[in-house]
Amino acid sequence: MSKVREHWGSRMGFILAAAGSAIGLGNLWKFPYITWHNNGGAFVLVYLICILVVGLPIMMAEILIGRRAQKSAVPAFEEIGHKRWSWIGIVGVLAGFVILGYYSVIAGWSITTFLDCIGWSLNGYTPPPDGAFGAFVSDGSTQLGLSAIFSVATLGVVWFGISGGIEKVTKFLMPTLFLILIYFVISSFSMSGFSDAMAFLFEPNFSELPATGILEALGHAFFTLSLGMGLMITYGSYLTKDMSVTRVSAMVVIMDTVVALLACVIMFTIIYSTPGLSEQIGKSTVGMLFVTLPNLFYSGAMPGGTILGPLFYLLVAFAALTSTISLLEVMVSYFIDARGWTRAKSSLVCASGTFVNTIFCALSLGAVGLLSSFTWVSGKSGVLDHLDYLASNWMLPIGGFGIALFAGWVLDKKVSIEELGMVDSSGAPNMQYKIWRIFIRFVAPVAIAAVIIAVMLGKDFS
Ligand code: TRP
Repeated sequence: MSKVREHWGSRMGFILAAAGSAIGLGNLWKFPYITWHNNGGAFVLVYLICILVVGLPIMMAEILIGRRAQKSAVPAFEEIGHKRWSWIGIVGVLAGFVILGYYSVIAGWSITTFLDCIGWSLNGYTPPPDGAFGAFVSDGSTQLGLSAIFSVATLGVVWFGISGGIEKVTKFLMPTLFLILIYFVISSFSMSGFSDAMAFLFEPNFSELPATGILEALGHAFFTLSLGMGLMITYGSYLTKDMSVTRVSAMVVIMDTVVALLACVIMFTIIYSTPGLSEQIGKSTVGMLFVTLPNLFYSGAMPGGTILGPLFYLLVAFAALTSTISLLEVMVSYFIDARGWTRAKSSLVCASGTFVNTIFCALSLGAVGLLSSFTWVSGKSGVLDHLDYLASNWMLPIGGFGIALFAGWVLDKKVSIEELGMVDSSGAPNMQYKIWRIFIRFVAPVAIAAVIIAVMLGKDFS
């Protein structure tokens, strides 16, 4: 006897959970620094175009496949009669394992920074000595402890399922996150660096855009929208038929993009408000969110920094948690749907299995020499670095390429028309559908192929 499939309790529940997956460290940590290193304006514009012409069409494709099949990433393809394409789902489940392994480590840093900020707000600020961050990441037991806290929290939510766990938690966390963000944006209006930050972000100067910036923007579009690994197939499989795939996709894409842009506005405003800082940031990457910003909250450049500091890292932790939940759910739902496991068993096994990966990542930032210093791919060192490279450069683009080919060329046109509900009054496919089809058949595959070829030629977008 087949069990009744769980569903999202409401449309908003789905949108917030999917947006929760999309909005994460990619928006708050990665996007600001790649924007900084690609010189702002023109890069931002190219990124927005990538989101629109590749991100949105693929998001719609993933959700429509999941909704149609009512099965998670791997079995979805078999369910709709294309078992041979299940490899896309398998790449996805593996990517979930790879990404969640290292994501939990970085997410853990938000907990420490949050606690540090609380201490500073209460007892006054003492600047950390030079090299403190390096000492922190190479302290194995701290890294293990922090990532363990994050992993247990993630398991705790996924354990309770879709409407009882993921939806409940994201429905609370996401609005809180938006409120904190709005508070920040309003605070940044009155800071001296606000107009410089806006000019940096929104005045495109194409001569300053590095050639690889275009491909980097595209690669990031996958990561930030949680595409290319069957997550949206999985979340879409819990959608009921009465919700519009197009509308929910558009909402998720808009929310993710707005948050990424607001994160830049906030961070660059703070940076431009602090004399000398923009030069100093130089090539720091990881540092921007966890090293540079905390100092600024207490430097006096930011009004109300003592309240905003802890709040900001709470926001980062919330954003990361709603993403780790989704990464785990891709794996968990695979074992439930394809192997018939109970949710409890699947959650426990997947979370524990991934934690083994997390242990390797947590110890690869200096704690254990053997894990930290090897270099297989030039410019990368250690487990965490290589896994990020593997997922961002190879697995997500390959998964996304597969989805575009499948939805555009293999899947029966009738199915996509029906699921997208894009018909005119006579029942024929409407203009929107025709546009979507051109993007999914031609634009997306060509653009992703360019990324994959660039990676083969040695470019690195992680
Ligand atoms: N989108 C998340 C971020 O921006 C990361 C993430 C969560 C993800 N789930 C994913 C990336 C699935 C790819 C696939 O931080």
